Amino acid sequence: MAETTKKDYRPRYHATVESGWSNDPNGLIYFDGKAHLFFQHYPYKPEWGQMHWGHVCTEDFVKWEHLPLTLAPDEEYEVENGCCSGSTIVKDGQMVLMYTAAQMERQRQCLAFSEDGIHFKKEPSNPILTAEMLHEEVSTADFRDPKILEHNGIYYALCGVRIKDPKATVEKGGYGNMILMHSADLYHWEYNGRLIWPQEELDDAFFHLDGVYECPDYFESNGTEIVISSPQDLPQIGHEYQNIHSMLYMEGKLDFETGHFHIHSIHELDGGFDIYAAQLLRMPDGRKIMIAWKEMWDRSFPTRPDGWAGTYTLPRELSFHDERLYQTPVVEIERYRQNRVEASDIALQDEEKAIDGFEGDCAEIFVSFEPGDAKRLGVKVFVGEEHETALYYDVQQRAVVFDRTKGGIPIEGREDDLNTRTTDIDPEERLRFRIFLDISSIELFINDGRYTMTGNVYPDVGDIGIRFFAEGGTAKIVEAVKYDIVV
Ligand code: FRU
Repeated sequence: MAETTKKDYRPRYHATVESGWSNDPNGLIYFDGKAHLFFQHYPYKPEWGQMHWGHVCTEDFVKWEHLPLTLAPDEEYEVENGCCSGSTIVKDGQMVLMYTAAQMERQRQCLAFSEDGIHFKKEPSNPILTAEMLHEEVSTADFRDPKILEHNGIYYALCGVRIKDPKATVEKGGYGNMILMHSADLYHWEYNGRLIWPQEELDDAFFHLDGVYECPDYFESNGTEIVISSPQDLPQIGHEYQNIHSMLYMEGKLDFETGHFHIHSIHELDGGFDIYAAQLLRMPDGRKIMIAWKEMWDRSFPTRPDGWAGTYTLPRELSFHDERLYQTPVVEIERYRQNRVEASDIALQDEEKAIDGFEGDCAEIFVSFEPGDAKRLGVKVFVGEEHETALYYDVQQRAVVFDRTKGGIPIEGREDDLNTRTTDIDPEERLRFRIFLDISSIELFINDGRYTMTGNVYPDVGDIGIRFFAEGGTAKIVEAVKYDIVV
């Protein structure tokens, strides 16, 4: 009896932690023919605890192999909060990993080395990047998540920090920022400076953050420089940053001397619910692929009773053009498509419609609409007797709404609204949704990935319906295609 069977919420084609807890992706790297995803991990309970590094790898971004623990907090300098986030590079054929040794009042950066990319040895002289090398403006209690970059033969570490400000009224006496440091050999580091400074044309909230810009990363795409990062406690601005903690990208120009990033624009990276701490993976073929933690802090985790908590987004290729950072699921996923069904030219007149063959909870759906005079038009997924999740365009607001109010197990957390997220979009003649469903996961790519919305829902076993709808008028489905993703 479907109703009484409890659903196993583990996604099938997304990376997940096997058991216990996981958060940030760490040290994403292509090494020895495989893409490696390390991650923040507490192996003993599905809750954040003293941090370890876990490890999975893949040849195709769909099937993930679980590997032994990478780091455990067994040194005196890291025993309180453990081995926090960081990154990896390859140097002289070895994998070099830099992570934050986190104590309550002191965060310092450490190195570990590996010949095979699986077994790591910590550097005996750890911690190597310490308070003495920092400028006194940086709070040593919030100095973490080093991302190592190589530029013109020099190593740079881009880190999330709090800059002290005795005048600050916020609780911790300072504001979130990022800093750049450099080194010729990974052992001796010098301070360049802080990345962001107030700019009049940008909202002041970005420069007076009562948290840290966690997990920063930097890359270029089509000649445009981008910094991505995860600001804690950024207040909502318009429809953006509705989550307590958000992810954003800044497009601008980095001065590698001063560390200053002159910002041209800032956007939320994903307008959904469950996404944080993204990092970049550079592939040998030139692709820049982003993977994020597909969860959120300060929320309930319905998978906890099953002994695990922590999923990751589909790896998404990033490309900056037409003034936005576009996200596209890696092409490798397309090899797992099966059972294609399609439909075209379907008129919707203030109604909800099922289309033959469109159902499933492990699937890819593509649909393009012509809006007509409807007020709302879109798709409902994970539809069952009691549940549904709606993804729709609200014509008047010119925005896409992800509504999980009736999605399944209710989520608890700190935000007032845990169930709807709204993303403003530039309307186009045709609205295009590409949706990936994976058991308890929804990733929506709007208009070729110009905007994305990501969120988890916890429906019942039989909730596999897919419906198309228009409210308050007409709309036309120009084309709809569905594949099962079979792993
Ligand atoms: C971001 C973060 C990092 C930190 C890690 C600890 O989610 O808070 O700043 O290194 O998680 O697990």
